[in-house]
Amino acid sequence: MTGWAGKTAFITGGASGIGLGMAEAFAQAGMAVTISDIEEAALAAAVAGLAAKGHQVDSLALDVRDLAAFRSAAASVMQRHGRIDILCNNAGVVFERSTADWTDTGWRWLLDVNLMGVVHGLQAFLPAFKAQGFGHIVNTASLTGLLGRADIGQYGSSKFAIVGLSQCMREELAGHGVGVLALCPGMVMTRIMDATRNAPRDVTARLAAAGLSDIPFTPPAPGGPRGVTEAVEVGRMVLDAIVDDVFYVLTDLTWADDIEREQARLRGDIAWLARREAATA
Ligand code: NAI
Repeated sequence: MTGWAGKTAFITGGASGIGLGMAEAFAQAGMAVTISDIEEAALAAAVAGLAAKGHQVDSLALDVRDLAAFRSAAASVMQRHGRIDILCNNAGVVFERSTADWTDTGWRWLLDVNLMGVVHGLQAFLPAFKAQGFGHIVNTASLTGLLGRADIGQYGSSKFAIVGLSQCMREELAGHGVGVLALCPGMVMTRIMDATRNAPRDVTARLAAAGLSDIPFTPPAPGGPRGVTEAVEVGRMVLDAIVDDVFYVLTDLTWADDIEREQARLRGDIAWLARREAATA
């Protein structure tokens, strides 16, 4: 635990849910934490809530779609702390369910936040990480970035892209002493199902006109058949995963069999090619 004292973290989407949970866990571990978010009122409330628990954190308004703003956020973190130990590219949104609801406007908003937000985080902080030669980048993907599921193609595409990008960056940064993790939460009780609160007006107007709203969501009971993880526990898992050199940070075992099945399918498809090549040799 004490190994984290005095180290620094920067978290996007830190005013709520998993980002806020990571902030609390990191602050508990003695780190100097900066949370950022597009929602300024929620950011102030988050800072006050953490202060009430005895944690002083810095905050910074940031829309992850804005590369210039991300670069100046990185500069201010480096100026204040002189180092970055953990960058959490965490801000994310989800909406719509079926291919019938797809529009370019919706796709672009979702990819801008979920994928370009991560890309901007990398662009803003990579020079500092490479210069100092240490640190970890935690990209929040999803279980949906490992398993394709019906009716969540937009969100799933963005999260598969984050897992893929994280794999690429893991390889690229290994020689620089910088670690990369793909955080793939299962189910965490947050405000994610109310994500259109941050959507551009043309997206929300179109959803309202079509009678669509956020994804209906019935929270499963903790300890029930589907796992639910507390956001602060996700933060603790991330710290443990860094220490244990874990890349895919899953948050519960509920979907482990489904992942194994998909991997078995891949192995089977490789075997099919091997058989085909042997037959035609
Ligand atoms: P949340 O809605 O509670 O928190 C997301 C935060 O991102 C909010 O504070 C929101 O204001 C912020 N945000 C939205 N657009 C932004 C933008 N353009 N720039 C900066 N901040 C922005 O939801 P949650 O669940 O904490 O989401 C965090 C991440 O976890 C997301 O990437 C989400 O896709 C991922 N995730 C969540 C799961 C869950 O079960 N809650 C499961 C798998 C992944």
